[in-house]
Amino acid sequence: MSRKKLYIRTWGCQMNEHKSEGIAGLLARYGYELVDRPEEADLVIFNTCMVREKPEEKIFSEAGMIRRLKEKKPHLLLGVGGCVAQALGRKILERSPAVDFVFGSANISDIPRLLTELEERRRNGHLRPGRDEPVMAVSKIPDRLEDLPFLRRSRFQAKVTITEGCSNFCSFCIVPYTTGLLRSRLPGEIIREVSELAAQGYKEVQLLGQNVDSYGNDLDDPDITFAHLLRALTRIDIPRIRFTSSHPKDITPAVIDVLAERNNVCEHVHMAVQSGSDKVLRDMRRGYTKEQFLELVYELKKRVPGVNVTTDIIVGFPTETERDFEETVDLVKKARFGGAYIFKYSPRPGTISYYKWPDSVPPEEKQRRLEHLLQLQKQIVAEDNQKRVGEVVEVLVEGEAKPGSGQVLGKTRENKTVVFPGRPEWVGEFVRVRVTSASVAGLFGEALEVSVPVPT
Ligand code: SAM
Ligand code: SF4
Ligand code: F3S
Repeated sequence: MSRKKLYIRTWGCQMNEHKSEGIAGLLARYGYELVDRPEEADLVIFNTCMVREKPEEKIFSEAGMIRRLKEKKPHLLLGVGGCVAQALGRKILERSPAVDFVFGSANISDIPRLLTELEERRRNGHLRPGRDEPVMAVSKIPDRLEDLPFLRRSRFQAKVTITEGCSNFCSFCIVPYTTGLLRSRLPGEIIREVSELAAQGYKEVQLLGQNVDSYGNDLDDPDITFAHLLRALTRIDIPRIRFTSSHPKDITPAVIDVLAERNNVCEHVHMAVQSGSDKVLRDMRRGYTKEQFLELVYELKKRVPGVNVTTDIIVGFPTETERDFEETVDLVKKARFGGAYIFKYSPRPGTISYYKWPDSVPPEEKQRRLEHLLQLQKQIVAEDNQKRVGEVVEVLVEGEAKPGSGQVLGKTRENKTVVFPGRPEWVGEFVRVRVTSASVAGLFGEALEVSVPVPT
């Protein structure tokens, strides 16, 4: 019997990407194999994000496309999970008739049961679930740490969740409401998982948490901290360990100590600043000032040579005046981030800022601030990349730059993209590369030494 086909579309953060690997692994046990296009699928899953309005809206337009597919393929099922499902629950079934079932942020392990329920209804002649009895599993508070059999997309890079949820309640952010309060996995479990990945030949693990520095805060043991966990992981024989995201209010000197040792922990810190204005930072409930943030950046750059500090910024927060925005511009000039995701403030129902302030910065003003920062940030990255010409860097090759182009691309330890002439069989291998030129997009170079034998 041919295997059933599963297509998963994921929106949102790395943690959501990883959850999709959990969905794929779980459903593989029930006979599903992944396909790349919804047209080929028997089951489509949308793993959704609610952090800004645009991705939320996209889900409903894409559900409309699946509805059209269903006209040709009536047995096709559509399940919606993740953060939008957690927040909207049965409203999704009401709003989009194409959706067959809904599962919450901590209800992935309920999917097989929901599928069986749907099958039973079909056998009994009910092709569509009645609106009064939706097929859904959405825990009121997502408080489960789910143990999933991850089916990883890459054979050399693995994501490992260390915490779920977030207890910070930054005023603009929906995440604590859709993912629940902070829940940390036990260190033993994480160490075991990373050791197994190392034994399977993985070259890089990325530790995931909305705020990795809060790891352990929910557990009753003062010795369970992110710094302790990181130190324990440095003893595992795996070439690269990354982590994301760091939080400026919680990163400790002990974490910087581990980073400063030049062990297998990579020199990259993604640490969202959000704003350079003390007033806006207070209104955002971020827990630090501009000066404290800059001190931290300077300390990191001093103690960890070559460290790449990247960030997230929100423009157009309701209380952000032109003067506040200028403070952000000033901070960006001083911090010289290696990369920045810049977002326009998007009011999210349920969050503190949504109720406290009207979305008062006009869209064209948000756009102007966004473009101004993007331009500045590009200039900084182009200048800093240029300084690296002539260096020799270690690159983990991730893929071909374009199929058949004769060029491959990969990342340095600090997460800089490098493109250079190479062979497809180098994917998943380390290559020493001399940087010969640079642009805002990254570094370009030539291979010096490859860790795989080059065919003669
Ligand atoms: N936990 C991470 C942290 O605090 O560094 C952030 C996770 S959030 C999924 C990713 C980014 O989305 C945030 O850093 C913020 O810049 C942005 N973001 C969150 N809520 C937003 C909103 N309401 N409008 C615009 N951007 C938002
Ligand atoms: Fe959202 Fe703040 Fe938690 Fe990050 S730390 S996920 S921005 S509440
Ligand atoms: Fe989005 Fe949920 Fe992640 S809201 S950013 S998918 S935690």
